Amino acid sequence: MTSGEPVTAADLVVVANRLPVDYERRPDGSTGWKRSPGGLVTALEPTLRAREGAWVGWPGVPDVEVDPLVEDGLSLYPVRLSAQEVEDYYEGFSNGTLWPLYHDVVAQPQFHRHWWRAYTAVNQRFAEEVARVAAHGATVWVQDYQLQLVPGRLRELRPDLRIGFFLHIPFPPVELFRQLPWRTRIMEGLLGADLVGFHTDGGVRNFHWLAQELAGATPDRDPEVVRYGGRQVRLGAFPISIDTKQLDELSRTETVLKRAAQIREELGNPARIVLGVDRLDYTKGIDVRLRAFQELLEENRITGGDTTRSGAESAIDTVMIQLATPSRERVEHYQQMRNDIEQAVGRINGEFARVGHPAVHYLHRSLPREELVAFFLAADVMLVTPLRDGMNLVAKEYVAARHDDGGVLVLSEFAGAAIELTSALLVNPHDTDGVKEALYAALTMNADEGRKRMRTLRRQVLDHDVDRWARSFLETLGVKVDR
Ligand code: ADP
Ligand code: F6P
Repeated sequence: MTSGEPVTAADLVVVANRLPVDYERRPDGSTGWKRSPGGLVTALEPTLRAREGAWVGWPGVPDVEVDPLVEDGLSLYPVRLSAQEVEDYYEGFSNGTLWPLYHDVVAQPQFHRHWWRAYTAVNQRFAEEVARVAAHGATVWVQDYQLQLVPGRLRELRPDLRIGFFLHIPFPPVELFRQLPWRTRIMEGLLGADLVGFHTDGGVRNFHWLAQELAGATPDRDPEVVRYGGRQVRLGAFPISIDTKQLDELSRTETVLKRAAQIREELGNPARIVLGVDRLDYTKGIDVRLRAFQELLEENRITGGDTTRSGAESAIDTVMIQLATPSRERVEHYQQMRNDIEQAVGRINGEFARVGHPAVHYLHRSLPREELVAFFLAADVMLVTPLRDGMNLVAKEYVAARHDDGGVLVLSEFAGAAIELTSALLVNPHDTDGVKEALYAALTMNADEGRKRMRTLRRQVLDHDVDRWARSFLETLGVKVDR
């Protein structure tokens, strides 16, 4: 972290619910910053650093007043949220209403008018802060479902700006979106942008239809444009990605290679290691993969930590690691899910582990990048089984880290990543037998076939990195981008 004067008027402003770093009050009373969780930051941070932009966002804790600051060349503008606003706007409307609604209602969304009121007030504040820091004629790139009213508000405040919006989560099917009592207001907010981007064509189609149905937009000859308020609003699919080169390079360093070998050793050199890495979220299908793993143990097709278990003599010696970043811990669905997952891990270990040799290793924490990449390299099978996911960057990170062409990716067909990563073993996470058989197929896959699949996956991920994603979005928005 370096300090300095933030830019006074920025030509490129990203606005997201969170800053790329969270403010931290440590137990000894000191304060500092740590990396924020989630895929949005993973994707946008390298992009914005390379372009010396400004970032407007919440510092991650309630009621802190932090002055604008410069962090490694990036100007950060903190937006203050009160504890009540965090409860109603962030935990409530963003993560108790929109998140489950947009993820195919895998949990029941709640509709509360006071949550909506907080959402509109906080969106207004974000728009005002952006209006203050953006230079005349600047480009503003609004991010994600927490800020869907910002494009509309910002256009009223600053008609000179070029405004893009990108949704990092799925845009839901028409029938689901129509449940939202404030559906028209959200559509009007989004239509304030010049360009609205989604991960997939499905999102574009749903939005195209709803813009006409709910907000009275009219279609254009171009199927990716609607006309609204005398303007053209362009729509597009921009599948997000990662800093592939940086991950590939990190995975080749001696420290990471050594650590990967050490992890294997620490686990007792099992024949196979299965890995899951997620924010601890009910959309990620962590329970699904634990069930599949447990059934393979019960059927004596894998051993878990206990190679001496009777009946399992010909089983494959396999252990599982689940790394889970704590997330939205005050939201009820998340508390329930954490209990369920920890109980499931306890049950599996209670039945199948031997002292000193758990079948499932579970870490409820965020790991440093290097350590995470070492886990990717150590894992023979990566299980990515969300019930619904906008993209899922973890799947792409695993592929980027496998410079050795090793490892097999098992991937849910309901993750946006499945559209590009077709050489993974694709599964329906609602089909436990299907996930179980795919996991077993991955564990027993012939090495040549595994390498062939991984090479194809790597070609896709290496060619389509996050810089290409950002360039393509910004160019479509009409921004001249340096090569
Ligand atoms: P989401 O945006 O829903 O959290 P993604 O898979 O797109 O899901 O992005 C998650 C990001 O968080 C990835 O960059 C991933 O590496 C990181 N991450 C997830 N779990 C951990 C963990 N336990 N430790 C460190 N990083 C993690
Ligand atoms: O796109 C997924 C997303 O919700 C981002 O907007 C967010 O920054 C990330 O996941 C992590 O979630 P949260 O900010 O709620 O911890």
